[in-house]
Amino acid sequence: MIDDQGSGYGRNAIVPEENTRLTHVGAGTPMGELLRRYWHPVCMSSDLSDLPKYLKILDEELVAYRDKSGKVGVLGAHCCHRGTSLEYGRIEENGLRCCYHGWLYNEEGKCLDQPGEPDASPYKNEVRQPCYPAEEYRGLVFAYMGPLDKKPLLPHFDILEDDDAEYLAYRNYSRGAVSECNWLQLHENAADPMHIFSLHGMNDSLFDFADVMGIKPTFDFVHSDRHVSYVRTTDVEGGNRLIRTSTIFVPTGKCIPPPDVTGTDPESETERARMVGWWVPVDNEHTIGYHIERIDPGKRIFQPPDGEVTRDYEETQRVPDDWEAQVSQRPIARHALEHLATSDRGVVMFRRLLNEAIDAIERGEDPPGTIRDPADQIIVVPSGNEVIAAGETAPVA
Ligand code: FES
Ligand SMILES: [Fe+2]
Repeated sequence: MIDDQGSGYGRNAIVPEENTRLTHVGAGTPMGELLRRYWHPVCMSSDLSDLPKYLKILDEELVAYRDKSGKVGVLGAHCCHRGTSLEYGRIEENGLRCCYHGWLYNEEGKCLDQPGEPDASPYKNEVRQPCYPAEEYRGLVFAYMGPLDKKPLLPHFDILEDDDAEYLAYRNYSRGAVSECNWLQLHENAADPMHIFSLHGMNDSLFDFADVMGIKPTFDFVHSDRHVSYVRTTDVEGGNRLIRTSTIFVPTGKCIPPPDVTGTDPESETERARMVGWWVPVDNEHTIGYHIERIDPGKRIFQPPDGEVTRDYEETQRVPDDWEAQVSQRPIARHALEHLATSDRGVVMFRRLLNEAIDAIERGEDPPGTIRDPADQIIVVPSGNEVIAAGETAPVA
């Protein structure tokens, strides 16, 4: 029988505000300012063809392009003359020319030409198109959208540093290119080892986890000031033990080990992660994912060959996946309504790190993971799979 405590009356219709401090991404908001102290992937290098690429990142409209001399620019989308979007502009040798009245901008936002103005006019030197620093790394274009005097070095990752290896950069898999929800609930998913058992293991998951993920694991969590890792242990049939370590970084990076590990082969399946990904806020209620994966000969890659998956509603109900689980938490998950449990320790830790990182910039300090010394530019990734043979014990980390 439904009693007063269970009744939805007075409870279900009232949805408290979202946790704006951790979820909102606009300029001037606490998280928006934290996010603007890091580099974010904004598109793939392969997106920059002979046409400009329209982007929305951190609730700002942008256009990325590669000029004919090879330089990459990230400009505010709306021309500073009268607002036409530069996505309709023409790429030239040293810049991007607005389609409307032909003002030409370079990657520093300098106006190089105003065909409608008198030859001697100094006006072009007085206007500036908003711009952001851009750098490429392994097939992704990164932009820094924060204060220039605080600009850190672009992080590199040790698992992506072999210049002889092949790399694949791609947008997110297993869901549409833009997820219709807040970035944080997507990002927290990779600190949530339980869902791999329940969502992926108990369903016929699209995401290609091996059957071993359907064995109930034990898990633990470790953290520094800039990352949370879960350490997920499964006793595999036959006596092997599988230890899987997956990591999320402050603010948006993640490093997930290969999902197709079976736990049967200590030799070939013990390996470090080969992929780094990011959830990039488009605005408060939309998010896009980017990844860089190292392609090792003979090893499976994450990216399904046919790219994005589209599914009808009934199928999503029968076989729900990450997209259904996370987008349906509401456009912005309401922390005030949650009942966090022991399996959410990683989520709790990560939210604490974000709060501490916001505190740090509010005190005028650099947030965790800010790299200024080139000697620190390469991040050593803690993620991987380890298969321990029956009878052996795990080495003490
Ligand atoms: S609106 Fe861009 S040149 Fe006039
Ligand atoms: Fe998942």
